[in-house]
Amino acid sequence: MTDSFGQISSHYGDAGIGDRILAALREEGVDIDALTPEILAPIDQFHTRGIVATREHAALAAPHEDMHILDVGCGVGGPARYLASTYGCRVTGVDLTAEFIAVAKMLTERCRLDHFVDFQQANGLDLPFADASFDMVWCQNVTMNVEDKAGFYSEIARMLKPSGRFTSTEMTSGTAGPPHFPLPWARVPEISFLVPQADMRAALETAGFRILEWRDTSADVVASAQRQTERVRYAKLGVGLVAGADMGDRAANSGRSLAEGRLVNVMMLAEK
Ligand SMILES: C[S@@+](CC[C@H](N)C(=O)[O-])C[C@H]1O[C@@H](n2cnc3c(N)ncnc32)[C@H](O)[C@@H]1O
Repeated sequence: MTDSFGQISSHYGDAGIGDRILAALREEGVDIDALTPEILAPIDQFHTRGIVATREHAALAAPHEDMHILDVGCGVGGPARYLASTYGCRVTGVDLTAEFIAVAKMLTERCRLDHFVDFQQANGLDLPFADASFDMVWCQNVTMNVEDKAGFYSEIARMLKPSGRFTSTEMTSGTAGPPHFPLPWARVPEISFLVPQADMRAALETAGFRILEWRDTSADVVASAQRQTERVRYAKLGVGLVAGADMGDRAANSGRSLAEGRLVNVMMLAEK
C-alpha cells in the first residue's frame, strides 16, 4: 500500500469500533444477539442522508434476488446488509480499512445474514476477484478518497458481467472553492481527491460505461444536513460510533460546503 492508502485506513480505522457499537446498543436495551439491519441503520450507514439515501439509491439501481452484488468501500456493511435483507440478493463487500471489515463481519453474523453477505479487506484499485464475477457493483461515498479514478472505474468494469450495472453515490467538487475541512472522508486535504462532475462522467465513459442516470442530490443533502448533524452529535445510536467523536463537526462542514457550492453530491447509474 502506498502512504495515501495507509493514511486513508488510519483516517477511518479504530480498534474500538465494534465494542463501542455493542456497548451503546446494550445501554439502549437492545438484545445484541438478535440484531437486524433496521436496528443498526442509524449507526451503520456511513454516508450523507444515511438509510434514506441507501433506499433511494437501491430504488434507482433495482437489485433483485438473482444478483450477486459487489459493494466497493462497504464500510461496516450497512448498505450490504440492507441490500441482502431487502432484496434477497447475495452481496460481497470489500473495504480498504481492516477494522471496518472485522466489524462488518461481526455485525452481519449477529444479524444472521452471513449466508448472504460476506466481506474481505481489499483495495478497490486491485480487487481479488476474477473478471465478470458480479451482476452489479455498488459504491456509496467512496471515490472522494480515490485519486486514480480511471484505474478505479476500469477495475469496477472488469468485475462486471456484460451489461452489468455500476451504481454510485459520491461527492464531487463544486465551483465555489475548496470545501471546509475536516470532512467525513478526510480530516486533511491530502486524502481528499475531489473532481468536478464532468471529469467523473468522462472517467466513467473512458472506462467503458454508458451513463443511464445522473442526479444532483445536493439540495436533498443540504435540506437534511442540520438534522443529520444534530443526530450525529446527540443521538446515542449514531454514525459517530463508527466515524469517531468528531463526526458532528465533519458532517457540519460537509453540509456547509454543499450549501456554499463547494461540493456537489451525485447519485448515478451506469451500464457496462
Ligand atoms: C464514507 S465511508 C462509506 C462506507 C460505506 N460505503 C457506507 O456508505 O456505509 C468510505 C469508505 O471507503 C473506503 N475506501 C476508501 N478508499 C478505498 C479504496 N481504495 N478501496 C476500498 N475501500 C476504500 C474507506 O475505508 C471507507 O470505509
